[in-house]
Amino acid sequence: MYLQRRNRILRTNPSIRSLVAETILTPNDFVAPLFIDEGENVTTEIASMPNYFRRSVDLTVKEVKELWSMGIKSVLLFIKCKDELKDNEGTEAVNPDGLMQRSIKAIKDAVPEMIVMTDVALDPFSSYGHDGIVKDGEIVNDPTVEVLAQMSVSHAQAGADIVAPSDMMDGRIAAIRNALEQSGFSKTGIMSYSAKYASCFYGPFRDALDSAPGFGDKKTYQMDYANRIEAIKETLMDVEEGADIVMVKPAMAYLDIIREVKNAVTVPVSAYHVSGEYAMIKAAAKMGWLNEEKAIIESLTSIKRAGADLIATYFAKDAVRLIG
Ligand code: PBG
Repeated sequence: MYLQRRNRILRTNPSIRSLVAETILTPNDFVAPLFIDEGENVTTEIASMPNYFRRSVDLTVKEVKELWSMGIKSVLLFIKCKDELKDNEGTEAVNPDGLMQRSIKAIKDAVPEMIVMTDVALDPFSSYGHDGIVKDGEIVNDPTVEVLAQMSVSHAQAGADIVAPSDMMDGRIAAIRNALEQSGFSKTGIMSYSAKYASCFYGPFRDALDSAPGFGDKKTYQMDYANRIEAIKETLMDVEEGADIVMVKPAMAYLDIIREVKNAVTVPVSAYHVSGEYAMIKAAAKMGWLNEEKAIIESLTSIKRAGADLIATYFAKDAVRLIG
């Protein structure tokens, strides 16, 4: 054969492959989610997330120092609220001395350069385990948005760099931006969970925070995974309302959405490689059915190739070690 074009030439050896590689992971790609608990010197492994932990504030600070030393520049905070503090309105979410607020302060005091992002949604604080206020069996939008705006201001007051609303109520980005402006927090950013699907892959996360919905599901606010155009609609609206960064969630079953969103907006796009995606790789690796290290790097590279500028992932530390 006298072929005009031989595509295998550029795949001949590792050197040439690395020269032409289009997508390269770096520590700057990652946001490390952290689960925070009350108490001191407490570490609890999450049953459905092997080798991932919930930690008290003191140990969280230690972890943040380690992440920073590895080159990871951002953390995304989630707290586990005590049962007795939960109610329908998420009152504890705006407590200036609440666990979230104390965690933000402690982390920013210890590692001021670390970009601290905070989860804004009612579910960890809700006695119903829903992301909004429940009235007559429904999750009511507008009263919920008011609490989300107050919650965002409270996080900003504690020192958060970026608030990350993960609730999927309508109009919350505009309300949060307004509330931040009115309270003098013009430097606090918003990372919006813009295209967040009602997904079974959040299961292990709800174990980690004990935040599973007490009745029904989240399909009246999170998106139907049958839909694609709706993701663009949600995302464009969030950008217009003031989102600095938008997000697609989950990641691996939604690579098409990540790409379409990336092509549609001029703000950075993040993707959340969620708890169930972590658990799948861990479980298969434990059974000896997958090579864990290769599965991690291939998954994260695919998410970046699809268009994610930032990836929130429970594998952040593993990935940095592997690419080191
Ligand atoms: C709640 C929230 C969830 C996740 C992030 N914020 C769960 C949910 O919507 O039920 C999921 C993250 C993960 O699974 O890793 N607002």
